[in-house]
Amino acid sequence: MPRLLLVSNRLPVTVKVEKDSVAVVLSSGGLATGLRRPHERSGGLWIGWPGDVSRLSETQRTQVEARLAEERCVPIHLSPSEVSRYYEGYSNRVLWPLCHYMLERVPRQDRDWEVYRKVNERFADLVARHYQPGDIIWVHDYQLMLVPGLLRQRLPEARIGYFHHIPFPSSEIFRTLPRREALLKGLLGADLIGFHTVSYVRHFSGSLLRQLGLDTDVDRIMWEGRQVRVGAFPMGIDTEAFESLAKEPSVLEEVASLRRSAEGQRILLGIDRLDYTKGIPRRLLAVQRLLEREPTWRGRLRFIQVAVPSRTQVSEYATYREQVNELVGRINGQYGTTQNVPVHYLYRSFNEKQLTGLYRAADVMLVTPVRDGMNLVAKEFCAARPDDDGVLVLSEFAGAADELHRAVSVNPYDVEKAADAIEEALEMGEPERRERMRALRAQVKAHDVHWWVSSFLGRLQGLPSVSVRKF
Ligand code: UDP
Ligand code: G6P
Repeated sequence: MPRLLLVSNRLPVTVKVEKDSVAVVLSSGGLATGLRRPHERSGGLWIGWPGDVSRLSETQRTQVEARLAEERCVPIHLSPSEVSRYYEGYSNRVLWPLCHYMLERVPRQDRDWEVYRKVNERFADLVARHYQPGDIIWVHDYQLMLVPGLLRQRLPEARIGYFHHIPFPSSEIFRTLPRREALLKGLLGADLIGFHTVSYVRHFSGSLLRQLGLDTDVDRIMWEGRQVRVGAFPMGIDTEAFESLAKEPSVLEEVASLRRSAEGQRILLGIDRLDYTKGIPRRLLAVQRLLEREPTWRGRLRFIQVAVPSRTQVSEYATYREQVNELVGRINGQYGTTQNVPVHYLYRSFNEKQLTGLYRAADVMLVTPVRDGMNLVAKEFCAARPDDDGVLVLSEFAGAADELHRAVSVNPYDVEKAADAIEEALEMGEPERRERMRALRAQVKAHDVHWWVSSFLGRLQGLPSVSVRKF
């Protein structure tokens, strides 16, 4: 089995500095959580950014480096200006909103491209330094779209895969990007380019045709004398891990305590990074609408919304946070009593065990992003329900909707219908809940993260060896 080099902007662990103390904590976000266990199994290296270490003393830095080495993580340190221009700037102010169809959020000026390009070069240099012949390189996500091409220049014979964890938008959207050709050519350095859904593959092929005049023949493209393959590989989760956590006595105690404190109220649950793609305000409006039009639900619902702090230095996220705070306040002000409030808003992160307790305690899970590449939370909820109960309300704009057909499907832009969907979920009878949850769980089990890794890497390894042919 060849050695696997994972390459992503964020490592599975992040260094957190608070006053004088420094901690290495698990990273949030689907890429890091999803790939953590495959990395443990593979025995290879993971190259990426461990977060800001610029304020650490020499001794602290040495401790952190040792901790990262234990995890087989190779850090790339970014300067404050690289963080602000490559990570916050081009990756999260330009590519993130653009791929999520939010053109109005993309800044008018294209200032950070040069730094994005340079940091992608730094990643490629570091990967090339660690590369040994026979290794498989697997690059992840939109922060590193130029890396496959840059690696191909440095390592012409290497086996390189790339996976795009967020939506690939329609070519009508992608064509607005001034650097559209460079980004597409960057990806074409890979041997295999993976997306979560068939639609994203189609959109990518559409952009190749429109911007570079390249025709995709089913799943392959000829580029600079090489065959590049594309495919849909829907990412899964570690289903077994969530299922066994959900059966642990300490988790079951936590579930009982959550239910006791809800005092007979029905529990609605939302778990997201605090990101404007996750549709939290519209979800709150749907809950508000339900309380407004059906007075019988007042005092009978507890909506627990976990919002994990994310990209706090990007101004759009700060504005979004204020918007969510205000809405939560408004709804609780309107429908709360001296005893209780309908929305329990938690601006913090939880570990897997705590999340599993929440998943298992919920009556209804609300996953209603306005756009999401996949959404692993939806799958984790199903995995954490060995009791075959609980209802998943799922946005049609999440990649997961392509697989999780037995969820209650919702268009998050239609607040009235979203309120209907929440009510339908709350009122669903036990036989239907069980039938739907069994089907969802079977799907999540059959296509877990290990299946995902082996189908992507199996495909990548099975490709004919790289030969540079001239046409
Ligand atoms: N997550 C976490 N702590 C939290 C909330 C979420 O570790 O407090 C994890 C969650 O278990 C999931 C990931 O973050 O694996 C979120 O992935 P998803 O695909 O749903 O969304 P993303 O954040 O990648 O956009
Ligand atoms: C999404 C992206 C990941 C990213 C994660 C967390 O899942 O696809 O690439 O790591 O969000 O965001 P952050 O900016 O904190 O890494």
